[in-house]
Formats: sequence, structure tokens, C-alpha cells
Amino acid sequence: MSDLFAPRHVLVTGGAGFIGSAFVRYCLGRYPDLRVTVLDKLTYAGNLSNLLPVAADPRYRFIQGDIAVRDDVLAALGDCDALVNFAAETHVDRSILDAGAFVTTDVYGSYVLLEAVKELGTPRALFVSTDEVYGDVEQGVSVETDPFAPRSPYASSKAGGELMVRAYHITHGLPTLVTRGSNTFGPHHYPEKLIPLMITNALDDLPLPVYGDGRQQRDWLYVDDHAAGIDAALRRGTLGEAYNLGGGNERENIDVVERILELTGKPASLIRHVQDRPGHDRRYALNSSKAHALGWQPTHTFEDALATTVQWYRDNESWWRPLKSGEFADYYRQQYATRLAK
Ligand code: NAD
Ligand code: TYD
Repeated sequence: MSDLFAPRHVLVTGGAGFIGSAFVRYCLGRYPDLRVTVLDKLTYAGNLSNLLPVAADPRYRFIQGDIAVRDDVLAALGDCDALVNFAAETHVDRSILDAGAFVTTDVYGSYVLLEAVKELGTPRALFVSTDEVYGDVEQGVSVETDPFAPRSPYASSKAGGELMVRAYHITHGLPTLVTRGSNTFGPHHYPEKLIPLMITNALDDLPLPVYGDGRQQRDWLYVDDHAAGIDAALRRGTLGEAYNLGGGNERENIDVVERILELTGKPASLIRHVQDRPGHDRRYALNSSKAHALGWQPTHTFEDALATTVQWYRDNESWWRPLKSGEFADYYRQQYATRLAK
């Protein structure tokens, strides 16, 4: 399928985070004539070292700023002909502790971006969303027309942002697209999420805190495949539509954790079943045939991609060790100390 739209200059908001930085590296590597501007607030999850591979590229520029601040967004969006928004508060456990920043960035921030697209007449704006907007999927798979049933403050904030996108498309005719990716993993993933937390804890012989029975299921998508799916939707998607991007790798958490122990050569005795997450969704699963029709398919197997990811964390201690000592140490105590003591 040929491209319907070929951007010349993309504003990537949240481009210093895990998936956003992979998208920037992917696009600059693939499209020689593309320019990329990154706007990122550099919260605890933002990390300029994720963008080091492109830092000297004359087609790239970085601006520190907030998607919830109109002037920051207008200044960055300027002459861009496409916006791809990754900026969000993203961790479910943090949204349970305090949801304020989630509403500000994921809902209000989306509104500010939409207003800027409207004011500047930007030709195309893609909002990166999540399978979590569908809520807990006991059986079967979610399709794009399913109703939203989010159950965590994170998922509800993402759904709120998406609903604003929908309203601006219908009411104001804005040229928007949405992608709903499944659980993503790979290098540069902040070590609060399941896979990087378990890898880095295992490497340090620390306990691996598995919530509840560990039988919850997630559909795992390698980060480079997620970046390629977003690019496919941006270039070939139909305006006003949403696209599921699933990895097709449904796994129970406990199986993922056991595989990480094998890959790190650590004993199963590190596993601790701890108090479950309140409102914990048991399962997410996506039907991605609409994105497949755009010519997108994940190309990495779960097994190979997990091995690559473990090796990356082995080789890049200088990336994650400083992260685990700073702000993260306080968060980790708050989230896990009581659970692990029981
Ligand atoms: P991340 O937490 O690694 O990065 C988020 C980035 O956004 C950081 O660089 C942060 O500094 C920036 N940011 C946060 N608030 C901001 C603000 N107000 N203004 C500007 N920048 C701000 O997140 P991620 O895992 O890369 O996720 C990116 C997007 O993909 C999010 O929208 C998330 O909801 C979605 N998503 C993530 C997954 C996943 O498994 N990680 C799966 C599906 C969808
Ligand atoms: P997470 O990486 O937080 O992603 P999400 O909640 O957005 O799916 O968690 C993935 C799964 O792993 C989820 O079922 C919760 C579980 N989990 C644990 O069992 N222990 C942990 O310490 C973390 C962070 C997650």
C-alpha cells in the first residue's frame, strides 16, 4: 500500500521517553529528507540520552516544554506539517497513588495540542493511545469500535484524551488519527514497568514483586514494531480512524518473569508474590487486522526481542543504574516496601 501522506517535518511530543525516542530514531533512520522536532517536558520518564543517537543530526532539534502549556506547543508546532503525540503520564501504579498529573497531561495536554493544530492548520495529527482504554477483556479480542471501559486512572485519562481527539475531528474537522498499542517492551524502557523492573532487579539479585497470582495476561509488542505501526498509521491511515497495534504475543506475567530469570541466569527463588494492584485488569487483547491492512505487521518474535532486551540492560547499566537510585528509589519504597515486607 502506498503512502497517502509523506510528512516533511514532524513534531514529536514526548519524544524523549521510551516509545517516542524509538519513533524518532526509526523515522530519522528511514526517511532521509524528514525533519523532526521533539518537544518534551523531561519529567522523571524523559531522558535525553535516549536521543543521543540522533543528537548531532542536523534534521533534529529538541525543545524542552510542556504539552499542557499553549505557548510551548505553538512555538514548537510552528512550521511542522505533522504532530505525533507520545507525551503522557504512563504508569498505572503511579496513577493509583496520585492521578493529578495524568489528568493534566493526558487529558488537558491533548486538548492544548488539538487547539494548536486547529489554530495553525497542521495537516495531520496522530495521538498515541493504549489498549487499556478497552478495559479488562475477559475473553476474545478488542476491535476499534468496541466501547471504552477504562478501569485505572491512567486508562481513564488516556480515554479522556482520546475522546477529545474524537470530538475535535467530528466537530472541527481536525485531521486526526489514533493508535492503540499493546504493552510495549525493549531498550530504554524506564525501570518502573514490569519487564525492565524484573530484568534490573534480577541482575541485582533483588526480589521480583509479582502482583497477585501473576496469571494476568498482556499482549507484548516490541518497541521498534510499535514505532513502525505508528508510522504506518500516520502515512497510510484514514483521518478520524483509530488503529489497534497488538504484538500478537499474549503471555501471563508469571511466564514472562520466569523467562527473564532464565535469560539472566537467576533463580526462581527471587520471585515474590505480593499484594495485588487495586482494580488490576486481568487481560488485554487486540485484533489488529485494521492496522495489518495498512501493510503493518510486527517483525520481531517475543522470544528474540526479550533476549535482545535483556542483553541491552546487561550492556547499558550506565543508563538504568542512575535512574534506579534517584526519584525512583522513593517511588519504589512507597510502592513495594510494605508489599515485600509481608
Ligand atoms: P514514557 O513514560 O517512557 O515517556 C513519556 C514521555 O512524555 C517522557 O519523555 C516525558 O518526559 C514526556 N512528558 C510527560 N508529560 C509531558 C508533558 N506534559 N509535556 C511534554 N512531555 C511530557 O512513555 P512511553 O512508554 O514511551 O509511552 C508513550 C506513549 O505511548 C504514551 O502516550 C502511552 O500512553 C502510550 N503507550 C505506551 C505503552 C507502553 O507499554 N509503554 C503501550 C501503549 C501505549
Ligand atoms: P506494567 O508494566 O505496569 O504495565 P500495565 O499495567 O500498563 O499493563 O505491568 C504489566 C503487568 O505486570 C501488569 O499485569 C501488572 C504486572 N506487574 C507486576 O506483577 N509487578 C510489578 O512490579 C509491575 C510493575 C507490574
